[in-house]
Amino acid sequence: MPSDPFYITTAISYPNGRPHIGHAYEAIAADAIARFQRMQGREVRFQTGTDEHGLKMVQTARERGVEVADLAREMSDQFQAMCDALNVSYDNFQRTTDPAHHRASVAIWEAMKASGDLYLDRYEGWYSVRDEAYYEEKELTEGEGGAKLSPQGTPVEWTVEESWFFKLSKYEKPLLELYANQPDFIRPESRRNEVVRFVEGGLRDLSMSRTSFDWGVKVPGSPDHVMYVWVDALTNYLTGLGYPDATPDMAKFWPASLHLIGKDIVRFHAVYWPAFLMSAGIALPKQVFGHGFLLARDGAKMSKSAGNVVDPMALAERYGVDAFRYFLLREVSFGSDGTWSEEAIVARCNAELANSFGNLAQRVLSMVASNLGGKIPVLQGLSLADRREAANDHDRRHATLGTGFLCDSLRAAHEYREAFASLDWQRAFNAWLKVVFQANSYVDETSPWKLKATDPDLMASVLAHLMIVLHDLAIMLRPIAPTACDRLLDAIGIPEAERDFGSIDDMEWYDRLLSSGQFIAKPTPIFPRLELPAEDPA
Ligand code: MSP
Repeated sequence: MPSDPFYITTAISYPNGRPHIGHAYEAIAADAIARFQRMQGREVRFQTGTDEHGLKMVQTARERGVEVADLAREMSDQFQAMCDALNVSYDNFQRTTDPAHHRASVAIWEAMKASGDLYLDRYEGWYSVRDEAYYEEKELTEGEGGAKLSPQGTPVEWTVEESWFFKLSKYEKPLLELYANQPDFIRPESRRNEVVRFVEGGLRDLSMSRTSFDWGVKVPGSPDHVMYVWVDALTNYLTGLGYPDATPDMAKFWPASLHLIGKDIVRFHAVYWPAFLMSAGIALPKQVFGHGFLLARDGAKMSKSAGNVVDPMALAERYGVDAFRYFLLREVSFGSDGTWSEEAIVARCNAELANSFGNLAQRVLSMVASNLGGKIPVLQGLSLADRREAANDHDRRHATLGTGFLCDSLRAAHEYREAFASLDWQRAFNAWLKVVFQANSYVDETSPWKLKATDPDLMASVLAHLMIVLHDLAIMLRPIAPTACDRLLDAIGIPEAERDFGSIDDMEWYDRLLSSGQFIAKPTPIFPRLELPAEDPA
């Protein structure tokens, strides 16, 4: 199990509108990873924030008749409120209008300049205000009425300006070497292939400054220029650790373990960012993961400009934060695009959370509360060492129904952990659900309530097995649905400090629970059944 510090970041969002469900998806995914790594015993730093400079912000503020700084503050607060409402456990919410961020951006600029990689020239090209990016003629497509469009489908205009340039072409070979030597630098594989093809196609030097507006970080020594918004935006990952100072956080958490971003901005993170860092003499992040897009049910791409934006906080309030988080991560195969609808949230969460896991928890804890007067049941017949050994030994596992069940669940927990660590959430969820289903069948097959009169020891043993598996399932799901799992672990009587993945392998917690003299109270459901809101009479 890795024990080194873990630094995870999300993209920083443009606060030119309110957050939508796509932003929520990324924040929740990153949060689940951060929580998982903490539960593996790693020291985690988790950063998110807002990307407040650039022409798009200036234009939106103008359209709304407000000061750009006021727009940035108001909307940035909304993004932070969304993270708080969704239980996103960030350590730092980085705003790019923070003076410390300006200092970091100037420092990285100066480091790139000192390497001889920045020069002043004239820039002409197809510029998309919406993407804040220049495109090459060959990348453009034609829209309605012959209008030229970027590969993202946004309008482009021919633009001429004096600009600082970065010698990106110089980094073509080092970047290709990086992708070859570190095959995991870009994930998933399909995005990696796109990036490699793009770089193999040849890199042109990159325009790094703008003179047409002044909302940004001023270029040192060129007061008419502000940095291209992506230069300062990418630098946010360093700002939050205290760069350019040699802080303890820089020493501990840089290079970043994982930049989690959407597939539309992989090029910025996997081409420009490592090139800037190489130029500035700073170590490269270990991995860039480009997740897919979340699409509204009709398959339409959801964006602020398309108008089909849904407030993620309203959805979380309607269905519960944990259910909403579970749905988003469970429904979409991580790395691919996925669709969502309220019907799908209700169907998925009712089937898997309310009826399966929630029901299991309710059944087990109720049986302990009513049949044993709440006393923790004594485990018989299978020691901790047996369980561990048998989990690796197929022949031994079906010694008894209970033994097989406990060993299967331990094996599933190992598979879950391995799949989660490699961000293969579909496999992780399947392993988890299999145990939930098995545990429910185990209750049906053993019918512990019938054993009360005939074989109370066996009943206690069955309930002990179920308590152990319930604990393991709650630990496994905790990064995804933290509040509900904590309620369940509270009900079982597990102290906060013991809620980690290690406790699945090391069942000493059960002995401690037995000797603690604690009682299981009559439980209340952890995942209530969800319902769609009633149709509007109109
Ligand atoms: N400001 C830049 C990122 C700079 S990072 C140094 C940006 N901002 S954004 O607000 O447009 O997007 C923020 C993140 O949300 C990006 O990773 C983007 O891919 C992601 N998503 C935006 N819409 C999305 C969906 N519909 N679905 C999933 N993620 C989406 O890009």
